[in-house]
Amino acid sequence: MTLHERDQTYILNTYKRLPLTITKAKGSYLYDQSGKKYLDMYAGIAVSSLGHSNKTILKAIKKQMNKHLHLSNYFVSEPVVSLAQKLVEHAFPSQVFFTNSGTEAIEASIKLVRKWGKSLDPEKQEMIALHESFHGRTMGGLSLTGQPKYQQAFAPLLSGVKHIERNNINQLRSAVSEKTCAIYLELIQGESGIEPLHFEYIEEVMKLSKRYNFLIVADEIQTGLMRTGKLFAYQHTRLTPDILTLAKSLGGGIPLGAMLVANNLSKVLQPGDHGSTFGGNPLACAMGLASFNLLSSTDMAHKVAHTSSYLLEALKSLKSKYDVIQDVRGKGLMIGIDLGKHAQSIQENALKRGVLLNVTHQTVIRLLPPLNIKDKEIKAFLEIFEDLLKLEQINK
Ligand SMILES: Cc1ncc(COP(=O)(O)O)c(C=O)c1O
Repeated sequence: MTLHERDQTYILNTYKRLPLTITKAKGSYLYDQSGKKYLDMYAGIAVSSLGHSNKTILKAIKKQMNKHLHLSNYFVSEPVVSLAQKLVEHAFPSQVFFTNSGTEAIEASIKLVRKWGKSLDPEKQEMIALHESFHGRTMGGLSLTGQPKYQQAFAPLLSGVKHIERNNINQLRSAVSEKTCAIYLELIQGESGIEPLHFEYIEEVMKLSKRYNFLIVADEIQTGLMRTGKLFAYQHTRLTPDILTLAKSLGGGIPLGAMLVANNLSKVLQPGDHGSTFGGNPLACAMGLASFNLLSSTDMAHKVAHTSSYLLEALKSLKSKYDVIQDVRGKGLMIGIDLGKHAQSIQENALKRGVLLNVTHQTVIRLLPPLNIKDKEIKAFLEIFEDLLKLEQINK
């Protein structure tokens, strides 16, 4: 049996696989069995932000491996505390709870906001989330995720969750009340096709959170860690969230998530209220620390700003030439190209040309390349992409 046949036999059928067998990954490229290389324009869905097989991260693994892999949460551990300290120093005065994934960071936050709300008033338990949001696939995260296609088969979900339209201030005003304990925001919705929240909308959320005393949870699992050109996407706005969730590239390629909790809330969860066997694993945090040191550097911020404006300008000029492009939007290196019904065939043809593209929301190519992708790699992508646009234009 081939690897793909064995995959179908032994792995539960929850993922669509690509017809590739990757044997090596380096920098911005994946290599298949025949040695053919593929430019990775989504970096493991925003996980491999420093490219594949990054030397600094590999060195950190080896160093930590020689000390210990796992201790249990009965012990303090240097890389775990150091990573938490770095996150807090770069975000806001807070404390960190580490998890293994994004959805677990969301679960932790749900428990916290509920406990906090109920401590003020037994009825203060309502959570607000946005249509087309994505907050994970465990039952709590799924309850917040505003996409019926993911939810319907698994109802009943958590009660007390209201979904409202993104950027609709009137709906926001009528949804919130004294019963609201928290609102969940992705500053740029990733899964729904790179849809940013408007500045005025965020301002209104901040205003209402003061009036009704509810918490703001920024889900930066996708937008965080320099993806949008700032370390955290909320730093583009005037918002400082009460809770920040992170994952994806946090562990430098190993499972790691985090919830940062503002200091005034740090007593809400008490010993025994929440925990995780692997959350805050020393190896994951050692990789996370090595990765964070690179991601948080001013060099990286400059690099992302440079690559982002190069890519965005080039894509906007392609949009003016090819009307199959309906929209180009995003920030930093989180960019959506809305191609309507052409997205799927462009993705398929790109694969044949050695470029890996991700399509989300059916119509949007979601670019999440390594943050250190080289100019010549972006140029190669743009050349192939323009060829594919020409083809679509002809076949329209
Ligand atoms: C904004 C956001 N929240 C939560 C999640 C869930 O993270 P994970 O897949 O690590 O559970 C994702 C994953 O794509 C995400 O983009």
